[in-house]
Amino acid sequence: MADPTSNDQNCLPGMVMTAGQYTAIVESVRPMARNTWCVRLRQPQLATRITPGQFFMIRPEDGSDPLLGRPFALYDTWDDEDGDPAGVDFGFVVVGKMTSLMTQWQPGEEVRLWGPLGNGFAPSSAKNLICVAGGIGQTPFLAVAMEALGLRTYGTPTRDVPQRPENVKLCYGVRSADYLAGLDDFDIKGLDVRIATDDGTEGHHGYVTELLDQCLTEQSSDTQVYCCGPEPMMKAVAEVCENHGTPCWLSLETPMACGFGACFSCVATVKEDDGTTDYRRTCVEGPVFPAEKLVL
Ligand SMILES: Cc1cc2nc3c(=O)[nH]c(=O)nc-3n(C[C@H](O)[C@H](O)[C@H](O)COP(=O)(O)OP(=O)(O)OC[C@H]3O[C@@H](n4cnc5c(N)ncnc54)[C@H](O)[C@@H]3O)c2cc1C
Ligand code: FES
Repeated sequence: MADPTSNDQNCLPGMVMTAGQYTAIVESVRPMARNTWCVRLRQPQLATRITPGQFFMIRPEDGSDPLLGRPFALYDTWDDEDGDPAGVDFGFVVVGKMTSLMTQWQPGEEVRLWGPLGNGFAPSSAKNLICVAGGIGQTPFLAVAMEALGLRTYGTPTRDVPQRPENVKLCYGVRSADYLAGLDDFDIKGLDVRIATDDGTEGHHGYVTELLDQCLTEQSSDTQVYCCGPEPMMKAVAEVCENHGTPCWLSLETPMACGFGACFSCVATVKEDDGTTDYRRTCVEGPVFPAEKLVL
């Protein structure tokens, strides 16, 4: 078995300055909710470098099926017995070939990682931070919340958080209660979790956007919204924020082929200051964009 700490790092100069290729070792694969799993990987180098909202591409170490890596957001980093970052956790929903394969991974198996990738969420500078998640879009918000609440640090050198929010909320919407993933993980001191289910099996009966609207009606000044989820939901979240005059950032989950800026398969349409539109690569310039810049 390869030592995950001894990988060569193959950075692409000028393109993805901090990204490297690594072998990681599967520690565990655990069910989180209906059709939803969490993988724990041992890969200390990646764990020390990745920051909230960033992602990595992952594929099997051997073989060519699937050939292309798949992007997954950081759920959180985890520590070894000495308290040093040892690896990364990520949560996923089974949709196709790679995610089906990942449910079968066994402890000790080697997988190939490429990352950390993307810009991620900047540390919030507002008094109130509201994270809005739709379905598996909850994954980036554990690390966002841990950092915002001062419970964990990320990056090398450690990312500076100049001003911590006083209030941190997670508005989390799913179709029904059996899709709620990681509620134990989100049971963090200081995090106000509000749940919405489409069918009313838990929390607010309705869309997460209705919860967000309530939150912003209570408290919209000095507030920032971070959002990740299906595109129609993110579009609705952006509209609610616009109505309240609240700045909002969206993390896109555009399908990706290369993950390092070369193939342009992941472009998002953005509005330029002069009123024209242009394209940005979600893997390099994103996945997080200010909502008002995006054409959704
Ligand atoms: C930056 C980023 C972060 C992501 N983070 C996570 C995460 O933390 N957890 C998670 O579960 N998923 C995440 N995704 C989505 C994840 O990458 C896809 O679900 C995964 O690539 C599917 O691989 P597959 O081989 O199982 O499916 P495939 O066999 O490749 O595809 C199966 C079906 O799903 C569709 N599909 C594939 N990818 C996407 C996509 N991105 N959006 C919509 N439809 C798609 C395909 O068109 C096809 O119909 C993220 C995507 C991006 C871009
Ligand atoms: S995935 Fe290839 S440019 Fe973004």
